[in-house]
Formats: sequence, C-alpha cells, structure tokens
Amino acid sequence: MEGSKLIHIEFMNEQRPIRVVDSFDTFLDEFAVQVGGQLTDERCPFGVLLWPSARIVARWLVKEAPWDRDAPLQIVELGCGVGFLSCALALLFPKASIIACDYEEHLERYVKANAAAWGVGDRVQFQQIDWRQPVPADMKGQADWVLGADVFYDDSHLKHLPPFARELLKPDGLLTLADPKRFRFGTAFDILKGHFTLKRWVEEDCDIEREGIEDFMVNSGVLKLKVSILEFAQRRGSNRAPPEGRATE
Ligand SMILES: C[S@@+](CC[C@H](N)C(=O)[O-])C[C@H]1O[C@@H](n2cnc3c(N)ncnc32)[C@H](O)[C@@H]1O
Repeated sequence: MEGSKLIHIEFMNEQRPIRVVDSFDTFLDEFAVQVGGQLTDERCPFGVLLWPSARIVARWLVKEAPWDRDAPLQIVELGCGVGFLSCALALLFPKASIIACDYEEHLERYVKANAAAWGVGDRVQFQQIDWRQPVPADMKGQADWVLGADVFYDDSHLKHLPPFARELLKPDGLLTLADPKRFRFGTAFDILKGHFTLKRWVEEDCDIEREGIEDFMVNSGVLKLKVSILEFAQRRGSNRAPPEGRATE
C-alpha cells in the first residue's frame, strides 16, 4: 500500500504485522493541503499511526477480559485509527463482530489491510462514523461493548464521545477506554462519571519502543508512559442525560 509500512507488534505470543503510515510528516503536509491548512486537534489525521494506549489495552485484555472468550459479542471501536485494537479484539473473541469506526475515511484501507493480514477480515468491518453526529439508527442500543483508545485530545471529544458511546450500548453493555493521561483526562473522567458507573480503573506501564508512533515519541523525549484503562457500565435504571452542564465544553 503506497505511503505505508509494516511494523510488528507482539500480541497473544506472536509478532503480528500492522500497517501504519510510512512518513507522518509527509502525510501531514498532504493532509494540511486537503483541509486548506485548517489543521486543528479536532481535524488532524493522527489515526494513521498506532498509539501506545491501543497496544496497552489490547495486551491488558488478554489477561483481564471482562467477557467470556466465546461470547458472540457486538463490539464497536470508536476512533479506530489503523484498526489494531479491533483486530486484537477479533482474535481474542473469535465469535465477536466488530465495527471499527473512525471519521477519517482514508483509514478504511488500513483497517481492511490489517484485518485481512490477521485473518479476521470477515468480522472486522470499517464504518465511517463521526461521534459529533447522531448515532446511526441501526446502531442504537446494539453494542455489548464499546471501546476507544486515545480518544480524548480535543474539547469536542469530551463533549460528544460519552453520550455517543452511551447510545450505542445495550443496557448491560460496557465501555472500555484507554488513555495516556494527557491534560484533558481529568475532565474526561468527570464527564464520563456523569454518564456511566465506573467498574474498574487500572494503570498500566508502557515502555516506549522504537517503532511506529513510538519513534515519534522517543524523539520527543518520552520514554515511559502510564496508560489508564477505565471500564464503565451503563448507569442502572437511567438512560437520562447527565446533569445539566456536565457534558458541555
Ligand atoms: C490518537 S488517534 C488513536 C487511534 C487508535 N485508537 C490508536 O490508539 O492507535 C484518535 C483517533 O480518533 C479519530 N477521531 C477523532 N475525532 C473523531 C470523531 N469526531 N469521530 C470519529 N473519530 C474521530 C481520529 O481520526 C483518530 O483515528
């Protein structure tokens, strides 16, 4: 695939290939032209890289999965990027169907290529979805599990993602989020608590390695990260909106 490269990630005791962008700087320059120079965190093509939170939560789920391995789960990943977490979930849960969502349609080719390489192309389907828009009618209340890795880096994410995730979930569904604890994390957590009940919160270490996004991060001097993994349940007996003002910027 032009403009891409393969990196290898260990998952479930095997080195597995993941296709990511070859040169983020070149890609960013081209993307900036496409969006008329209007690059903001709300519209930045970060998804062509594989971020540490995705690999850390995937590794954690191997030992701490909240569902039986043979459950026929309907899973939605929000902000899937190149689709690594969706592919990992498909391997971990062989009877699950996964909708890998992102608002950047150019990511579809990465998700498709990665799912095919992992042999899970029949159960990982890309869908272009923007969580600032209403939930598609056919997806409302259908998901057993919604996940997102590194999806709080703009104020618009804080406002829109929690209610979007809530609408996707079945009443007994779960939301799992992994976050590298950037400065919006505390606010995101407060807003999430207004929508969901916290079930688990763990901190996992991430040693930054020299591949993919990690090159980019090593060059910025970050060598170790803590990734927070949060698991939320639907708030029992209430599908109401959170108290006035909680979910606004
Ligand atoms: C930091 S990247 C993380 C990608 C992937 N989860 C990972 O960890 O490697 C955030 C992702 O969220 C997507 N995203 C940002 N805003 C979005 C929105 N409003 N609707 C859907 N996806 C969005 C981006 O396109 C990007 O793929």
